[in-house]
Amino acid sequence: MTDAAIRAVIDTDPGIDDAVAILYALASPAFDIVGLTTVAGNIGIETTTRNAGRILALAARSDIPVVAGASAPLSRTGFDSAEIHGDDGLGGVGFPEPLVPARGDAVTWLAEQLEAAPIGTLDILALGPLTNIALLLRDRPSAARRIRRLIVMGGAIHEPGNVGPRSEFNIAADPEAAELVFSAGLPTVLIPLDVTRKVRADRGYLDALRARDTAAAAASANLIEAYFQSASGGESRPLHDPCVMLFAENPALFSTEDIRIAVDTGVGSDAGALLAGESGGPAVSVALGVDAPAALELLAARLGVSAG
Ligand code: RIB
Ligand code: CA
Repeated sequence: MTDAAIRAVIDTDPGIDDAVAILYALASPAFDIVGLTTVAGNIGIETTTRNAGRILALAARSDIPVVAGASAPLSRTGFDSAEIHGDDGLGGVGFPEPLVPARGDAVTWLAEQLEAAPIGTLDILALGPLTNIALLLRDRPSAARRIRRLIVMGGAIHEPGNVGPRSEFNIAADPEAAELVFSAGLPTVLIPLDVTRKVRADRGYLDALRARDTAAAAASANLIEAYFQSASGGESRPLHDPCVMLFAENPALFSTEDIRIAVDTGVGSDAGALLAGESGGPAVSVALGVDAPAALELLAARLGVSAG
C-alpha cells in the first residue's frame, strides 16, 4: 500500500451502487480501506450488513471488518428503496456469503479508529443515510473532530430529487442526521445528484466492464444490469455512490462550490430537501460539475485491475 493511499472507512447501505463503489475502492491502490460501517437505508440493517460482508468476500478482502450501525433514522420512521435494489439489496446478483461475522456498534468502533489514528488521517466515505455520522457527532464529538474529510453522496442543489420534488434518498431517509452533519463544521464534501446523474453507465459500458475480465468488473456489470432491470426505461443508469470514490481519488474530475446548507426537516414532500445558502452555519464544498467520461474511464480502469 502506497504511503499516499487514502485511509478511509466506508459508511454504506449496500445497495447496488454502493457495491460498485466498494469494489472500486478495494481495487484501487489509491485507497486503504480500514473498515465498512453499515446503516439502514436502501434496505434494512441486517441486509446491508450481510451485503457488506458478501462484497468483501467476493473481493477476497474479508480481512476488512464490517461493523453494523444504525437500524433506523435518528427520529423518523425509515423507508427503503427495495424497488430499485431488490429485496436482497444487490439486485439478485450472485455474491458469496460473508466469511467473517459482522461486529456491532459502528459508532463505538468509528470513535476507536479515529482516536487510535493520528488526528486528521482518516476519511469517511458516506454512501447512505447519515445516521451513523450524526450519532458519532452527538455521542463522540471529540472523536468526530479527528476526521480528516467526510465525503457524502447525497442531496440535490439544482437537480430535481429522486424521492421527492427536491429531496434525494440519502438525505430524505434521515433529514435530522443530515442537518446535524452539515452544521457540524467537519471538512465535508457533498456529491449531489447534480453530478452523479451525469456519471452514467450505458450497455456499452457494461460490455467494456465485462471485457476487463476481473471479478470486480464482472460483478459491477451484473449489478448495473440489475439496476437496468429495476428502473424502467432509459439507456443508462447513474452511478451515484462511485462518484464519492472518484472524487476522493481524483478531485480534479469535479468542480466544487462552497455552499452553506440547511436541510428541510419538515414532514412534507420536500422533507430532506437541501436549502442552499439558507444556513448561518459553516459552508460545505459541493461538487456541481464533473468530467463524466474521464470519471467513467477511471472507474472502469480500476475495476479492471486484477486483485494482487
Ligand atoms: O440517491 C442515491 C443514493 O441513495 C445512493 O447512495 C443509493 O445507494 C441510495 O442509497
Ligand atoms: Ca448508498
